[in-house]
This record gives sequence, C-alpha cells and structure tokens, in this order.
Amino acid sequence: KKVPAGKRIILFKYGADIVWVFMANARVLVSDPLAEEGLAILRAAVDVDVKTDLKEDELCKIIGDYDALLVRSGTDVNAKVIGAAKKMKFIGRAGVGVDNIDVDAATRMGIIVANAPEGNTLAATEHTMAMMQSLARNIPQANASLKKKEWKRSKFMGVELNEKTLGIVGFGRIGREVAKRAKAMDMKCVAYDPFITQERAAQLGVEMMSMADLFKVADVITVHTPLIPETTHVINEKSIATMKDGVRIINCARGGIIDEKALYDAIKAGKVAGAALDVFEQEPPTESPLLTLDNVIVTPHLGASTVEAQLNVAVSVAKQCIDVLKGGSAKYV
Ligand code: NAD
Ligand code: MLT
Repeated sequence: KKVPAGKRIILFKYGADIVWVFMANARVLVSDPLAEEGLAILRAAVDVDVKTDLKEDELCKIIGDYDALLVRSGTDVNAKVIGAAKKMKFIGRAGVGVDNIDVDAATRMGIIVANAPEGNTLAATEHTMAMMQSLARNIPQANASLKKKEWKRSKFMGVELNEKTLGIVGFGRIGREVAKRAKAMDMKCVAYDPFITQERAAQLGVEMMSMADLFKVADVITVHTPLIPETTHVINEKSIATMKDGVRIINCARGGIIDEKALYDAIKAGKVAGAALDVFEQEPPTESPLLTLDNVIVTPHLGASTVEAQLNVAVSVAKQCIDVLKGGSAKYV
C-alpha cells in the first residue's frame, strides 16, 4: 500500500491476522527531559514533541492534542491536566514514583499509567551509599572548607560504618540493593517492610523487625518506601525521640517521609548527628532551614541521575508507550 509522505504506519496483530494500522494521529508529548535513546524509539513510530518546563495552563491548553504523555518528576500531572487530556491513552513515568501523577483521575478516564521501576534502582542505591559515606566522613563539608583554602583536619572527624547497624525502612528494590552493599562494608542490616518476609530478608543476611524496634537499634536509618499515607512523616518528633542519640538519617526516596521540621529540631538539639537528603517536602527546598545546618548534606534529587539509569528508564517507558498505542498493554502498570 502507498503510504502518504509524512505519515506513519505500525504493524498490528489482530487475532490470527496481521493488519496494517494507520497511526497518522498518534502524537506523544514528552514534558520532562528524556534520554535520546527513548526519544529515538518513540520517533521511529509516532510524532513526538518535547516541550519541557510547561506551566500548568500551557500544558492544559495543548494536552488535548496528544495520545500519550511521558514525564519524569518535573511535570505535575494533576486532575486538571488529566481532565483536559481528551485523547490520552497512556501516561508514562520515566522512573519509579508516580506521586506526580493523579493515577485515580487517569484511571477514571481509561488512561493507562505505567512507570519504569527497575531502570534506576542501582543509581539510587549507589547514591544512597555515597550519601551515607559522605555523611559519616563529612566529605562535602571538608571539600567546601578546603576549597576556601582552609586546612581543618580536626573539625571533620568522622565515624566508621563498620559494625554499625543500618536500619532500612522499605525493603524493596533499592532497600535490598542498599543492604547488599552495606553488608559488604560489615554493617549489620535490619529492615522494616510490611510486605517482605523474614525468609526473604534472611537470604541477604538481614533481620526484619517492627519499625519501632528498628528505630531503637539503628545507628543509621535510610528510608526507601513510596510516599503514601502510611509512610508520610514516619520519621517525626515522636519516632525520633525513640531513636539512638547520635543517629544519622538518610532520605533518597521521597520528601515527606521525614517531617523536616522535626528533623531540623532534632539536629539542632543534638539528638540526630546528621542527615543526608536527596529529596524534600518542597522541591527545590529553597526556604528549608535544613539547608542552614552544617551537618545536613544535600543533593538536588540526583538519585536517578546517571547516564545508565536515564537510558534504562527512557527506553522502558518509550517501549511501553508504543506497545499501548499499538493496542497492546504496558509492562509496569
Ligand atoms: P519498591 O517498590 O521496589 O520498594 C518500596 C518498598 O516499600 C516495597 O518493598 C514496599 O513493600 C515497601 N513499603 C510499602 N509501604 C510501606 C510501609 N508502610 N512501611 C515500610 N515499607 C513499605 O521501590 P524502589 O524502587 O525501591 O523505590 C523506593 C523509593 O525510592 C520510592 O519512593 C521511589 O520513588 C524512590 N526513588 C527515588 C529516587 C531518587 O531520585 N532519589 C530514585 C529512584 C527511586
Ligand atoms: C524516581 O522515582 O524514579 C525518582 O524520583 C527519579 C527521578 O525521576 O528523578
């Protein structure tokens, strides 16, 4: 069959028959930066517009023209945006957390929402390990000090992680990879996760316990849960009071799992020795008093920011998008 110039077709299997389906109208909006490898997969099959940093009104104005939307965490895909997405069939999140997408609103509109949960696991794991080691040895502070031409060796006395207890809240993909690496550093690992059995954890040499017990025994606590009502502010004034004096706390998961005000107060009071934060209740956290504390080290939501992870998540979500637009299903709904 003759295909008109500039139009696209996609091979489509229907039952036992192979039919050519005309896909001239399939249009995909990419509203956050996506790795080129993912864009190439999309461009081979559909029309793609990359428009980042759109304000909500701008997005609402154009979203009705698109069959699919691909985002990272920068686009707030709220009910208003979804309400305007009249042709939308698929929303893809190039990463794990879908908390910037109103999944219920999308589901009501019959839109498939999928993520790419595996592609950035190791990036976030390695970032967590880097944050833990930086926190223990004051590396960011010492680096900044020396670059100011200071030579303050005693100011940056650290602690060893060897034989310390690491408490892992959320023992999913990232939590488990963190445990493997911490075990290699001779840390004792304990974990809390209501959906993981002791048998599964034992395979990694990790002891499961209640969150209350974990808070009591851990020298370092790292959270790796989604942000859901059950995990919101699980680290708060009350739970911090039950922790060891001098505990160190890491959040490379989601802002909001830790009550930042309670964390600030506990660090000021000397109860918590330090914190390493990649994520914040408000991003960017420009007004956060935590940024004024020397023993808080921070990165701007860089957990998934590796070349490898961005390639993985972009390819995963692009493939799922094309599968859905071809009438198939998505792998990670
Ligand atoms: P995952 O789904 O594999 O693991 C999450 C775990 O949390 C699951 O095992 C689940 O059972 C557990 N969980 C659920 N409710 C819980 C509760 N009430 N208490 C304790 N545990 C609970 O997800 P993952 O890939 O390991 O990601 C973990 C978190 O890290 C997510 O919030 C994700 O968005 C975030 N993340 C952040 C970055 C970053 O850039 N900083 C990168 C990747 C992932
Ligand atoms: C995620 O949930 O995958 C992370 O927040 C990574 C990101 O998209 O930056």
